[in-house]
Order: sequence, then C-alpha cells, then structure tokens
Amino acid sequence: MTVILLFQKSPQLVPLPFQVRSTLIAYDIFQRGSTLEQYLKVAIEAARVGGEILKSYQGRFTSREKSPKDLVTDADLASQQAIQDYIFAKFPDHSFLGEESSADHCREARASERPLWVVDPLDGTANYVHNLQNYAVSVALVKGTKVLVGAVYDPTNDSMYSASANGPAMFNGRQIQSSQCTQLDQAMVACSFPAGVKRIDPEVSQFLSVLEKCQSVRRLGSAALNLCYVAAGSLDAYWVQTIQTWDVAAGYLIAERAGAKLTNVSGRDFDLWHPNVLAACTLELHHLMLACLQE
Ligand code: IPD
Ligand code: CA
Ligand code: CA
Repeated sequence: MTVILLFQKSPQLVPLPFQVRSTLIAYDIFQRGSTLEQYLKVAIEAARVGGEILKSYQGRFTSREKSPKDLVTDADLASQQAIQDYIFAKFPDHSFLGEESSADHCREARASERPLWVVDPLDGTANYVHNLQNYAVSVALVKGTKVLVGAVYDPTNDSMYSASANGPAMFNGRQIQSSQCTQLDQAMVACSFPAGVKRIDPEVSQFLSVLEKCQSVRRLGSAALNLCYVAAGSLDAYWVQTIQTWDVAAGYLIAERAGAKLTNVSGRDFDLWHPNVLAACTLELHHLMLACLQE
C-alpha cells in the first residue's frame, strides 16, 4: 500500500529549458573525446537493457540465498551479463564491477586505472522475488572516488532517473529537484536495513529515533530508488548505515544533482568505497536528521 501511494506522487518536475551549465563537453579524460553526455547515454541505455531482462524473467526466475536472507536470482545474473555485454560493446577498454561479479573480479576491476562501470543489476531483489514493485537497475561510471554519470531504471513503472556530474538530475527526460522540506515533523523519510539486521544494530535504534520525530518512515527495499525519490521530492530524507558501492553510486549522484545534501551518517564526506549515506532535501533537514541519528 505504501509503495502504491509513493508512485502516485509525481516527481517534482522543473520546467524546461534545463539550467545546464553551458555544455556537457570537455570531459575527454578517458578516451577519444568521449564526453559525459555520451557516457550518460550509455548508462541510461545499459540500465534499460538490464530492466528489460528483469521484466522478461518475471514469473520464471529461480532464487537462492547468497547468505542468510540475502537473495539472488538468475534474473540478477542475466541482467548483469546483458549490461556488461552492452557496455563492453561500446567501451571495450573500460572496467566493469557488478554486484554479482566474483570477489577476484571486483578486486581486479577496482585496482585498474581504467574507467569503471559500477552496476547493481537488480537492486531490491527481495521485492522482485516477492512480486513487490520497488526494484531497479543501477548503473554508474566512476573515476577514482568520483561518480561521473549515473542511471537508475525502475522497469515496473518505466521510470528512468539519471544525472551526470555537471548536469541536472532527470526523470524520464525532465529535470527534477529535491523538495523544500525543512522540518522533521513534516518529513517523509526512508531507511534501508541490511539482510539479517539485528535489533542491536545501529540502524534499529536510529529507526526508532527517526520514527518518533519525523512525519512517516518507510523501508521500501531499494537503496538506489530511495536516493532517486529524494532527488524527485517524493522522499524528504533517506539514510542507510550498511550498504555497498553498487547500491548507491548512481543514486548518490542523482540526488546530489537534484539539490539534496548528502554526507555519510556521521556528517562527514560521503565515501564511495566505504559508503553509508544520509541524504536530505535541504540543509536544515539534513542538520535535524543528523542530530536525530546521533541521539
Ligand atoms: C539491497 C537493497 C536494500 C538494502 C540492502 C541491499 P539488493 O540490495 O538496496 O534496500 O537494504 O542492504 O543489499 O540485495 O536487493 O541488490
Ligand atoms: Ca543492491
Ligand atoms: Ca543487487
């Protein structure tokens, strides 16, 4: 029910023309004059490729536990393979790191100096397995600790969220902005819990604290989409204590480019390779959320 209500609220669209700084050119830091605009196009296309695979597996996938309560399906694997093939066809000399890659492959990809595509081929696998709507594909291009472009695609609703490091955040081709909420008691807030969360884990006491102070709290099941909902103004804040780079790389950039304030949950700079996130639509709400999480 909660999820349905969320989808009924339209993203906050900003009228065209976009306030894009002059051009999206001059980022030929990688190869042969490729621009952020071109990378973003490939990220968007790749996310859509993954999304189509996920839809095609609905009703016929098999699932298993990678670790207790942490699910993976053959749709996750097929989506990742299709995304990887798509990206390598466009950029054969780039590196690729997907959630379902082997640990050895992840180490190699991270160690390489090449441009690195960081992909979650299905964020929200538990929702997908239980036929709940909230899941997505997340694709980001990373250089060191910086996210250059990101795309998050929700295939159920044909919703594409995207941004490049020097452009606006977009939802299905229209610019979006985070909301203007400045008060906790008016804020719609979401959080994520890791698989197998225990009652003594910090996110549980944080949850109780936020629950008492904010208007409503949700645990929707996709970290990538939660960040996009902050970008689009459907959520006012989101925090996650325990998360992986592929879950948040694209969503982080999209929320930031939509005007949200993002740090780690202690208020320090977000660290892409040791991520935990506090995202809030305004500085005021970020400040209040931070105090609430630290109670
Ligand atoms: C999960 C989702 C969820 C978060 C988990 C992640 P997955 O990703 O992002 O919101 O709470 O920690 O693992 O496993 O569905 O790709
Ligand atoms: Ca994920
Ligand atoms: Ca995943």
